[in-house]
Amino acid sequence: MTDRYAVIGNPISHSKSPLIHAQFACQTGQDLSYEAILAPLNGFRDTVLAFRDGGCRGMNVTVPFKFEAFQLATQLTVRAQAAQAVNTLKFDGTEIIGDNTDGAGLVADIERNLDFILQGKRVLLMGAGGAAYGVALPLLNAGAIITVANRTEDKAHKLAAVFAAHGPIQGSSYIALAGSQFDCVINATSSSLADSLPPLPRGESATPPSSPNAPFSIGENAKRGGIFAPNALAYDMMYGKKSPFLLFAKEQGAARLADGLGMLVEQAAESFFLWRNVRPDTAPVIAKLRLI
Ligand code: ATR
Repeated sequence: MTDRYAVIGNPISHSKSPLIHAQFACQTGQDLSYEAILAPLNGFRDTVLAFRDGGCRGMNVTVPFKFEAFQLATQLTVRAQAAQAVNTLKFDGTEIIGDNTDGAGLVADIERNLDFILQGKRVLLMGAGGAAYGVALPLLNAGAIITVANRTEDKAHKLAAVFAAHGPIQGSSYIALAGSQFDCVINATSSSLADSLPPLPRGESATPPSSPNAPFSIGENAKRGGIFAPNALAYDMMYGKKSPFLLFAKEQGAARLADGLGMLVEQAAESFFLWRNVRPDTAPVIAKLRLI
């Protein structure tokens, strides 16, 4: 019998998860179906339980229900507990296992797909909301040395305190970043969705522009006084839209730029592995999504 899976959210019609999981299933020969479910904003729990009782084996959970999923789970993985949010549910009899594969997806994309090893690297994590909580522990476990910066500075210090037992992590304001450099800068804020940019310190060109109004030249190496170290990676967890952060990073001379499409596919692969104990090959799926 075909096993049923789904992604649940509100809104949900934009979700690429059904496409991704259909390709994983086809590639690995797993007999499963995967659909998108729109839950009413006040009806997450009832919708999940109805699907579970109808034979559904597991679900991905997206905005705005990741915290409700965390509360609904009867068992939590360590990484879900750390994230205080759940993006993957697995139904096992009466148990509802809650996991969070976002951070593992980010680390897999950075290390495996982008070939950027995080061990010992200075990482600037921007944002202190759910997205940042979701990735902090896997980044620390990969050996990153994290500075977390947030517009509301208190929240950056709070996040750092929550994860301090797991590795080197400190909170900061954006202003206090001036004079520091990072090997990897990750945008976990929702700023790109609003077409805006976190207030990062701006480096100056080694060759000043000819007039005060002339644009900075693009593509030169890390600018003097900027936050990007030589060979730095700039990573925006958002995908599918022009990212003001990645434009800024390019202008500031970041050596490498990446959006969050690889992370999306990798977190899906982690969920697939949790459900099926089979690891799909993500590269052809990422390549295909880039063409859509
Ligand atoms: P998510 O679950 O996607 O992380 P969230 O919990 O609403 O969403 O958090 C959004 C994050 O993006 C916060 O860290 C927010 O900063 P504040 O805590 O100061 O509000 C950050 N954010 C949103 N827009 C931003 C912007 N234009 N510049 C900098 N940070 C921004």
